Amino acid sequence: MTLSTKHLLGIKDLTKEDIELILSTAGQFKEVLQRPVKKVPSLRDITVVNLFFENSTRTRMSFELAEKRLSADVMNFTASASSVKKGETLLDTVNNILSMKVDMVVMRHSASGAPHFLAKHINAAIINAGDGINEHPTQALLDAFSMKEKFGTLKGLKVAIIGDVMHSRVALSNIYLLKKAGAEIIVCGPPTLIPKYIQEALEVQVEYKVKNALEWCDVANVLRIQLERQNQPLFSSLREYNLAYGINKKLLESLNKEIVIMHPGPINRGVELDSDVADGPFSIILNQVENGVAVRMAALYLLSGKTES
Ligand code: CP
Repeated sequence: MTLSTKHLLGIKDLTKEDIELILSTAGQFKEVLQRPVKKVPSLRDITVVNLFFENSTRTRMSFELAEKRLSADVMNFTASASSVKKGETLLDTVNNILSMKVDMVVMRHSASGAPHFLAKHINAAIINAGDGINEHPTQALLDAFSMKEKFGTLKGLKVAIIGDVMHSRVALSNIYLLKKAGAEIIVCGPPTLIPKYIQEALEVQVEYKVKNALEWCDVANVLRIQLERQNQPLFSSLREYNLAYGINKKLLESLNKEIVIMHPGPINRGVELDSDVADGPFSIILNQVENGVAVRMAALYLLSGKTES
């Protein structure tokens, strides 16, 4: 089976079948990753470049490990240590790298639409590793994989996406994916961090009280406050945010039910999540990171053109 798309630019472009194929392939690769020898030859002779124009810990290392587990040749590019600093354009940078016979590009960029622009100008398969406030498709896929692993299905699952929805590419990719998979979604946060027309545009419910969202949901996917993307103050202080929207042990205990806690990382401890929740028994945050490798192996493999050989 193959994907309906040449690139993975966003969940918006994927069919339900594409998502199911990536998740089931990730399940097979997760089994490989439990073996003593964790490496398979699936991407032998394929060269992948990881182009990171914006900071990353999890996504970048997860992609690099996924590529190495698949036996690909891997090149890493960091904008801050490159000729981008001398004024080279994105297209010139990429075309110079591609002239070295690179087959696939993984790209993170602070500008929304940067990988879509690139896809119009180059032949290599592109995977979006996060573009501005637009999408982070592999994060949504690993989140979905982790929820499916925990609950068996996404259909009918009640997911609350809590926090800085306005600036979150994780939120948008999760909403697209969960809707295609038949889950129910509430977005929750201060009115200044929830886009005004999200209810009509994306057909999700909006809740401004975190306790109500938690009482409703099976899973709380808690978002990072993205101060680097906020041009003006959108709430009075981090302390005030924590008091109104932060999730702590006392709040979870007051629910009289168990909910699963997720977070894409990096966590602002003591702001959106207290440590006793982030590290507590209901947290699957490190399982998300573990699953990211298998999910990225699946995306790389399915987009490599190697599936039919
Ligand atoms: N979740 C995520 O994208 O984390 P990084 O910014 O560390 O890659």
